[in-house]
Amino acid sequence: MKMATSHPRWIDLRSDTVTIPTQEMLEAMVQAEVGDDVYGDDPTVNLLQEKAAEKMGKEAALFVPSGTFGNQLAIFTHTQSGDEVLIPESNHILEHEVGASAVISRVGLRPLPDQYGQVDIKDLEKRYREEDLHHPRTGLICMENAHSSGKVVPLSNLQEVYQFAQEKGISVHLDGARIFNAATFLKVKPAQIALYCDSVMFCVSKGLCAPIGSLLVGTRSFIEKARKNRKLLGGGMRQVGYLAAAGLIALEKMTKRLQEDHENARYLAKRLQEIEGIKVAEDRLDINMVFFTVEIERFSPPEFIQFLEEKNIKINLPREGEFRLVTHYWIKKEDIDYFIETGKTYFSRYYT
Ligand SMILES: Cc1ncc(COP(=O)(O)O)c(C=O)c1O
Repeated sequence: MKMATSHPRWIDLRSDTVTIPTQEMLEAMVQAEVGDDVYGDDPTVNLLQEKAAEKMGKEAALFVPSGTFGNQLAIFTHTQSGDEVLIPESNHILEHEVGASAVISRVGLRPLPDQYGQVDIKDLEKRYREEDLHHPRTGLICMENAHSSGKVVPLSNLQEVYQFAQEKGISVHLDGARIFNAATFLKVKPAQIALYCDSVMFCVSKGLCAPIGSLLVGTRSFIEKARKNRKLLGGGMRQVGYLAAAGLIALEKMTKRLQEDHENARYLAKRLQEIEGIKVAEDRLDINMVFFTVEIERFSPPEFIQFLEEKNIKINLPREGEFRLVTHYWIKKEDIDYFIETGKTYFSRYYT
């Protein structure tokens, strides 16, 4: 294949959060009917919230500025100060939300050993606190699906955890930032996943292309409480229907095309294996993510990244030695081919 020297636009494989809105979204945003959402007057937000609740099989939903906001609002609303929250140790809430639950909710996160977001019920039993003068109260369990490791947690594991929580009389919150990717992989409706939690947060701003926003979903009384807490945290937004308009297209339309991103991720994984020295984590190709390591002694990640940038490709530095690439709406098969050919050019220096 003949190599182009540069590419006409950026191929951004860092995350699905980089997706910009589609033309249809931009037009819907301009034309959106809006009102003051703090008064509950914004018809577009109200419609998005109704549809979000319906899709998750729950009573009510609330539009929030980000995934982190939605997760932290859920923790704040479910718990009391001083509680302990049981959470798989590799989950986003524990790893990537700046320790917010200690600051906002004043709760401790008690980590559970996990296998890509899956937990062993025996570990949950061991870490749950029975009533004792010396113990904090176990106030909540948090799960994540799809998990940011690229794996989808099986429904059976979510069911086991939820059953345990119900026996103990505590709630389960699901970080479903990518619940539609999980549903696509499992070939179920998202409500079948959300069946095993009391609240779920999902993002319209990741692979679904909306520019901003997430939804927190749960019972009517939980969402009423969360609405007041959202105001307390400064997340009461006014004519936010302009954003909800894009969210509606994300929810109704973009959720139906995620299989394409998953197939592209598998195609990318397969082609990466053509490059000597690259080892793909083949057991973690459930969604739109590909993880790989480079097993070449002299290999320099920053140099590789710079080389790619000069060719209009963006990828992140590795975390704990592992690169992550993410496919999304703006990544087509040809872009993957271009990335692979560029990678082959770079790696050829190690074999000549
Ligand atoms: C699994 C998961 N949960 C929550 C979030 C937080 O979303 P936001 O970046 O909108 O705060 C992310 C962000 O990438 C995520 O991957």
